[in-house]
Amino acid sequence: MNMMSKSLLVSNVLPDEALRLIPREISVDYNGTQTALPKTELMARLRGKDGLICHIISAIDDEVLAAAPTVKVIANVAVGYNNIDIAAARRRGVVVTNTPDVLTETTADFAWTLLMATARRVVEADRFTRSGQWHRWQWDLLWGADVYGKTLGIMGFGRIGRAVARRALGFNMRVVYQDAVAADAAVERELRASRMDLEGVLREADFVSLHTPLLPETRHLMNERSLRLMKKSAILVNAARGPVVDEAALVRALEEGWIAGAGLDVFEEEPTIHPGLLPMTNVVLAPHIASASFDTRLAMATLAVRNCLAVLEGKPPLTPVP
Ligand code: GLV
Repeated sequence: MNMMSKSLLVSNVLPDEALRLIPREISVDYNGTQTALPKTELMARLRGKDGLICHIISAIDDEVLAAAPTVKVIANVAVGYNNIDIAAARRRGVVVTNTPDVLTETTADFAWTLLMATARRVVEADRFTRSGQWHRWQWDLLWGADVYGKTLGIMGFGRIGRAVARRALGFNMRVVYQDAVAADAAVERELRASRMDLEGVLREADFVSLHTPLLPETRHLMNERSLRLMKKSAILVNAARGPVVDEAALVRALEEGWIAGAGLDVFEEEPTIHPGLLPMTNVVLAPHIASASFDTRLAMATLAVRNCLAVLEGKPPLTPVP
């Protein structure tokens, strides 16, 4: 297909290695910054374009889509796509793609990083060690929670949830999961995982790790009621989406000891963080970096570019959203 007349908006920074995949004939409007374009500017720059490559900081709603009727594809550089109104895109015949698979293992690694860091108080330990307070060996210093042999609860048993479960085999953990769909018996056997309802997982798990997409039915999945069902000794890990947790309820849960700790990569109103979380020592916080390894971020950018190009070439996208 002749790509001569095609044009793209890349609404935020992407690695050169990924940008170089775009053929010269395609004209690229590139905002090489990390700041989301204001909605009016996004709409203005999208006008007349054939495709958009964007990050999760760009909200693509029906109004944005209406302003750009020539757009045929939106390639999100993320596996989660709650920043895009999928129903509106579908109605308008716009293909939406995401970046599954390439970030599964890296994200699972980071969920485990948060789990371990929270359980064994690594951030507190680092702070203490640097601060000059360490004067002698101390028997009662920084005791934490065991991980080996405990029960891991996983909310959302998709690609990432399963990758998190697979790592738990090495820790001889029992895995319980909640998902609308049961995994195949072979997968459950391999991962030594059993499906339970939400309440069962919350009651049984020593660690609860969230791996659901953000959907109307998963918004505030972790609320006062569900947090109160967790063990007092349990730790919550969220490397999925902030609004899956009612952050105000989580702060109360941590303040009042309904649960023991939390490892959080995502927040309800990023980059704002509930002020109650900031002074808490039993909480490990990260700035939405679960997929941020050198290799994976490059793979995500590359996949998004390839998805966009495929649609512009009239081919099926590699990874359309389901
Ligand atoms: C990151 O948040 C992603 O959804 O890939």
